[in-house]
Amino acid sequence: MHRFYDELADLWPLLSPVEDYAAEAGSILNLLYELRYLGNGARPRLLELGAGGGHTLAHLTEFVDATAVDISPAMLEQCGKLNPEVECIEADMCSVTLDREFDVVLCHDAVDYLTDTGQVRRMIRTAWDHLRPGGLFICAPTYTTEEPIDGQVETDQNRDGHRCVTFMSYLYDPDVNDGRFRMVLVVITDEAGQVKVFHEEHELGLFSPKTWLTLLFKQGFQPQRITLKASPPRDLERCEADQDAVPYPVFVGMKPSAAM
Ligand SMILES: C[S@@+](CC[C@H](N)C(=O)[O-])C[C@H]1O[C@@H](n2cnc3c(N)ncnc32)[C@H](O)[C@@H]1O
Repeated sequence: MHRFYDELADLWPLLSPVEDYAAEAGSILNLLYELRYLGNGARPRLLELGAGGGHTLAHLTEFVDATAVDISPAMLEQCGKLNPEVECIEADMCSVTLDREFDVVLCHDAVDYLTDTGQVRRMIRTAWDHLRPGGLFICAPTYTTEEPIDGQVETDQNRDGHRCVTFMSYLYDPDVNDGRFRMVLVVITDEAGQVKVFHEEHELGLFSPKTWLTLLFKQGFQPQRITLKASPPRDLERCEADQDAVPYPVFVGMKPSAAM
């Protein structure tokens, strides 16, 4: 288990603030409206695989009945605090078995942690097994081979009164042919002058759109690559439009109605 999602989990609201997920969650809601999973009077049942601290879900729960799966109990605790109405289940997204079906399965940035196609195949199978016929799978990896990742840096700093958390991530790719890359994370916490520094390296997966579409197709989905732009939901001005938002790809697959 990464320390980031274990002993540092209580810093998640400061490391990756829930507001930062509003526009992206808004674009997912827009997609659900467009594809008629929302807006028809029904409240879809949504399963998020790798829901982490529930920051995406926090912007969706007004419209969907959500279930969260994550491998980290500490992250699920954060998720439950933020989203008391969400059922939180500790499990691996590649093997979890819940004996019920959902209208929508979402796998957002947690999918970055699947580092080979065997794992991706199992996660896609999990999504398939938990969808009703006609249900929708949305998979939104942060990174694909379409964008160069080597050397990308992100920094952020947030406070909550007594704590100040400074965060930096750095991406590098030691072998551009192996479908993986590495993320170095540095976190500095300052609690009233008590300064601590953590660093950790995570291995993440990097797949081409063609790989995503092929794996979805092989499972039986009707796959599509859709470009979303982080934006407010169409008829609800809940999420602020992010002027700097760049379009990002998501891979969606509908489970055919006649699927066995
Ligand atoms: C970047 S965080 C997700 C944050 C989340 N989108 C949110 O809204 O707070 C990545 C999450 O993936 C989870 N994760 C990584 N591998 C997993 C797996 N095989 N099964 C389930 N969860 C996994 C980690 O425990 C972590 O909580």
